[in-house]
Amino acid sequence: MNFIKVTQRYEPHIALIELNRPKELNALNLELMGELRDALKQLDNDEDVRVILLTGNEKAFAAGADIKQMADKSAVDMLVIDQFSTWDQIRKTKKPLIAAVSGFALGGGCELAMTCDMIIASETAKFGQPEIKIGVMPGAGGTQRLTKAIGKAKAMELVLTGRFLSAEEALAYKLVNKVVPVEMYLYEAAQLAREIAQMSPIAAQLAKESVNRSFETHLDEGLHFERKNFYLAFASEDQAEGMQAFIEKRKPVYKGK
Ligand code: CAA
Repeated sequence: MNFIKVTQRYEPHIALIELNRPKELNALNLELMGELRDALKQLDNDEDVRVILLTGNEKAFAAGADIKQMADKSAVDMLVIDQFSTWDQIRKTKKPLIAAVSGFALGGGCELAMTCDMIIASETAKFGQPEIKIGVMPGAGGTQRLTKAIGKAKAMELVLTGRFLSAEEALAYKLVNKVVPVEMYLYEAAQLAREIAQMSPIAAQLAKESVNRSFETHLDEGLHFERKNFYLAFASEDQAEGMQAFIEKRKPVYKGK
């Protein structure tokens, strides 16, 4: 891996992926995105991993897609390169994925953070979709996810002016789960991961899938989907263990089976 660092056993049941192109503010070139896709797929298949943390460094989560790599491309080049098929695969990660964001989360960087299930931000985090300033527009989900997260008026403002949201504003607009001092953002994200890692990984996966479904369907169909996943949870040993532990007033021991 040249552009990311993967710590498969960061903590029990928790893996950490660090974007690692610091000189370029973690600009997301095609190679980095390919490595990220492969790492997520591998961690998704690792039975011991229950939650995945994704972070950058203090200065930048990621400052967007790599402008230098895109600058001379034609529409046909972009079509053939098809960079967003990689993003589609990342989006399909089944395990809970938490972004720990400090500094710049811009363009593709903001879109990548929003692709995660939750965002813990440092006080220095800045979110934005500044593509308009370089003559394009968001292409990795920004117009859709940002609008769903913070509403049309503010999303339109960010997408059309390229302005940044401070961490405090991002919290007020419900883009992020929590804002903490800069020295705490990874710790706080790991703390959230630890809490989730104690749950049944099967239940977590089914629940994540159901919440995400709400973005893609109307209520009746969403409820139907939720119900099926609820019933499916009863096929797991973890369901029996969770309910038995409750009755016996003890802590459940989940196996992910
Ligand atoms: N692509 C390629 N290189 C980038 C980059 C990017 N998105 N962002 C920063 N860099 C590089 C800079 O070119 C610079 O490299 P050199 O030292 O070789 O010149 C280095 O990272 C440090 O950047 P700056 O000197 O610009 O740092 P700064 O602190 O002065 O400014 C910044 C920081 C405001 C984030 C500024 O770098 C910036 O505006 N970056 C671009 C942000 C942007 O437009 N992102 C959207 C990209 S398009 C996209 O993402 C499309 C999509 O939807 C998928």
